[in-house]
Amino acid sequence: MRPSADGRLRARRRALAALLALPLAAGAQIDAGPYVPSPSVIVDEMLKLGAIRGDDYLIDLGSGDGRIPITAAQRFGARGFGVDIKPELVKLANENAARAGVADKVRFERRDLFETSLAEASVVTLYLLPGIVTKLVPKILAEMKPGARVVSHDYPLAPWKEDRFVQFDTPEKEPISGTTRTVLYLYTVPARVGGEWRLELPPSVAQQPARLTLAQHPMGTRGSVTIGKRVIALGEVKVSGDAVRLAIPGLGGGGKPLVLEGRARGDVIEGTAPAPWRATRP
Ligand SMILES: C[S@@+](CC[C@H](N)C(=O)[O-])C[C@H]1O[C@@H](n2cnc3c(N)ncnc32)[C@H](O)[C@@H]1O
Repeated sequence: MRPSADGRLRARRRALAALLALPLAAGAQIDAGPYVPSPSVIVDEMLKLGAIRGDDYLIDLGSGDGRIPITAAQRFGARGFGVDIKPELVKLANENAARAGVADKVRFERRDLFETSLAEASVVTLYLLPGIVTKLVPKILAEMKPGARVVSHDYPLAPWKEDRFVQFDTPEKEPISGTTRTVLYLYTVPARVGGEWRLELPPSVAQQPARLTLAQHPMGTRGSVTIGKRVIALGEVKVSGDAVRLAIPGLGGGGKPLVLEGRARGDVIEGTAPAPWRATRP
């Protein structure tokens, strides 16, 4: 007996669900996209935008011939690490590091960039397809330290809003990527402040602890403060690295907002402006 149209649809859905649930088989191909090196003038601009220093640890995701970490080590003495899915490029990058005399500072491994921990990086650089860059946003925000920087060549980490971007023309790029246009984007990883906090406001504002609720997204952070039964939507929430600024409408005297400025360190946010205040995880 032939299955009904409904039955066929259900069978197709089951087959699709099974396919989606399959883990990537060992040795399965990852669509790595093309290898297109960043011309050296762009590497220089990326390192400048990322304000690379000697104490940085830079990870290049999709490191190609290793030029970004190698240049950072040569120019600034920064330590570096790079991963690429293509073994021949990893081999070339390690050889290039040795030739440049920085093999003690820079290392390359064959690895999927999505399986590379970013926890230790103070800077991450990227020149990847736009779809990959966008998929990396939650991983970067979850793993990188507050204040760490990300520099992306040509593709923004949407929907995360960049701190700065620079654009210029690079004639060297035309033969390899068909355009002279270059845009570099800089991001600073914000402290992870989303969730509930017990808020001790300056005593002149409230004697009893209040509740601070923050919802953090790549596009920004919103929130509210609850004092007793009064819920006040925050006017401004700015989190840049570990610096936190919260504006609570109407509590600043004379109908003005109370603007709290402080720093987030793990499970504590505290500051002294405009008077000592502190938020802790309940
Ligand atoms: C456009 S090239 C950039 C190379 C280098 N970062 C530069 O700017 O000169 C992108 C590199 O990312 C690598 N790649 C793409 N997807 C990857 C993945 N999932 N894991 C590791 N490497 C990947 C490619 O093999 C390629 O070498």
